[in-house]
Amino acid sequence: MPEAAIQVLDVVKKYGSRVVLDQIRLDVFKGETLVILGGSGSGKSTLLRLMIGNVKPDGGDIVSLGKSIARMNAPELAAYRKNIGVLFQSGALFNSMSVADNVALPLREHTDLPEETIDIMVKIKLELVGLREHAEKMPSELSGGMKKRAGLARAIALDPQILFYDEPSAGLDPVTSAEIDQLIIDLNQKLGVTSVVVTHEMDSAFRIAHRMVLLDRGKFIVSGTPDEMKNSQDALVRQFVYGLTEGPLTARRRGHEYVDDLLGGPG
Ligand SMILES: Nc1ncnc2c1ncn2[C@@H]1O[C@H](COP(=O)(O)OP(=O)(O)O)[C@@H](O)[C@H]1O
Ligand SMILES: [Mg+2]
Repeated sequence: MPEAAIQVLDVVKKYGSRVVLDQIRLDVFKGETLVILGGSGSGKSTLLRLMIGNVKPDGGDIVSLGKSIARMNAPELAAYRKNIGVLFQSGALFNSMSVADNVALPLREHTDLPEETIDIMVKIKLELVGLREHAEKMPSELSGGMKKRAGLARAIALDPQILFYDEPSAGLDPVTSAEIDQLIIDLNQKLGVTSVVVTHEMDSAFRIAHRMVLLDRGKFIVSGTPDEMKNSQDALVRQFVYGLTEGPLTARRRGHEYVDDLLGGPG
């Protein structure tokens, strides 16, 4: 068995009485790109936030880089966060700072490196994401794809061991989206990082994934290689992977509508 970077151990997460993750169990292997798939509201972002340590599980645990996230205190969590990088949907750049200053921020906050060294490191990160010529631009001058690249340069500023991406191609055109996918592949190979990518876009998932997991309404459905997913005989997996209009997902939706109709609910 390959070594696990992250072990998700029977994780339960509730909001109020609502169970949004129900006993999820999975491993993320060192150096792989694991893609978390699922429809809207299936719990993908929540699972990512649990792995990042932004939310605590109500049951089970997550062991990441050898430590229990559930049991980390605030300083331990801060130390853990220095070893991971996160690319949020918007790129989440500070609009009042240049691209270079955005990338330098984690280095200035978390290291005692002299400015000349930070300068060199920022240039290296920007080169890695193809933005070296745009270092002095402000975020407002960047296209959507460039913002993602800048966010990614900042996410790798501290040389993280794990990179987390939440819907990295959301809001991008297909070509830019494919470029970001290529960047995710390049960084995984060049930096040797472990990558966890949440998406509902199949083209993107099949380009970047070493392995995939499918969540549905907070439940773990299946995990496997892209080939295993494509060849799955499970009706739900097939409907999701091939975007079929007929299958358990749509049957369920119609069922809900019927019940709503009977009960006079929304519909
Ligand atoms: N902070 C929160 N408070 C209450 N409910 C939440 C919160 N975050 C997520 N949820 C609910 O949990 C479910 C899963 O959400 P999420 O993980 O964002 O799904 P996905 O990323 O797969 O679209 C959704 O039904 C969502 O409404
Ligand atoms: Mg989400």
